[in-house]
Amino acid sequence: MIKVITLRNSSGASLDVINLGAAITALRVPDRFGEFQDIVLGYDEPTSYLRNPDYFGVVVGRFANRIANGRFRLNEADYQLARNEGAQHLHGGASGFHQRLWSIAPLNGAPVENNVRLTYLSKDGEENYPGNLAVSVSYCFTEENELIIDYSATTDKHTIINLTQHTYFNLAGHDSGNILDHEIRIDAKRFTPVGRDQIPTGEIQDVRNSPLDLQAFQRIGDVVDQPHKQLGYCGGLDHNYVLKEQFDPDMRVAAEVREPRSGRVMQVITDQPGVQLYTGNFIGDGTIGKNGASYNRRQGLCLETQHFPDAPNHSHFPSVELLPGEAFNSRTIYQFSTD
Ligand code: GLA
Repeated sequence: MIKVITLRNSSGASLDVINLGAAITALRVPDRFGEFQDIVLGYDEPTSYLRNPDYFGVVVGRFANRIANGRFRLNEADYQLARNEGAQHLHGGASGFHQRLWSIAPLNGAPVENNVRLTYLSKDGEENYPGNLAVSVSYCFTEENELIIDYSATTDKHTIINLTQHTYFNLAGHDSGNILDHEIRIDAKRFTPVGRDQIPTGEIQDVRNSPLDLQAFQRIGDVVDQPHKQLGYCGGLDHNYVLKEQFDPDMRVAAEVREPRSGRVMQVITDQPGVQLYTGNFIGDGTIGKNGASYNRRQGLCLETQHFPDAPNHSHFPSVELLPGEAFNSRTIYQFSTD
């Protein structure tokens, strides 16, 4: 059964989560005048998430982002995954974690009102990935309007893993039009360029002297349609920024977004080596969302903290392998404030 869980703090800010796809379906935080708005895109009906072509709100797995031709080699075995985006594998395949019903798990320790933990057992061979993978995602919404997401996983066979959260943010409100006036800063000097098929070429490129340089705040509308090969390939920004070239467990600020009218500010803090900035280039005009809102192209932006796309096929990218006896652990924080 699909269940809705609401996490609140004492200021009145709140977050709705459903166990289908471990999706975030609403997030209500104040603007600079104290007005609350729901700032994430989504659907009214939980069952609508069964068909969710834009991946609104969901946790993506077993492997977020793309794998070239759906193929990878591990331990001298070849694996062929679903090719569900042209010839490529995207976001876990035909029926990834975003379409699975997760269990609502008891928390370790005393239950707290602002916390929920969801678990999912992905069976050996599901979507052709090796190993029984036991996954847990917990959401904690603090008094400081921080959304803390903790991911963990274990496997019984050598496998690959790349989990992310695919919420679309619109800091002016989910129904307020496009995100072109949002200003963004990404603390990354490099990114992984892609080809026409949106598969990384394997290079790690400097962002300088290109519209992908977001080291200082830029208005999204000023950069996203500039004539540039990388933007052309993706219909805008849809790129993995390199936060770290080698994995280490330290948390760092990856990105900051501010919206001038509402004064809302979002910081993204993560231990992951990459963050995919996606500016909603493929949202179909007239997509019906919450409260009958009509969403259009570029109505929301995603900051998907993750490992690099197609990492299983690039040995110099931080490793996405997980071995039996090891634990995958990762944390991302989305922090909301006003200027
Ligand atoms: C990711 C990808 C995009 C797109 C969206 C879902 O962000 O990078 O290209 O597939 O997911 O629509």
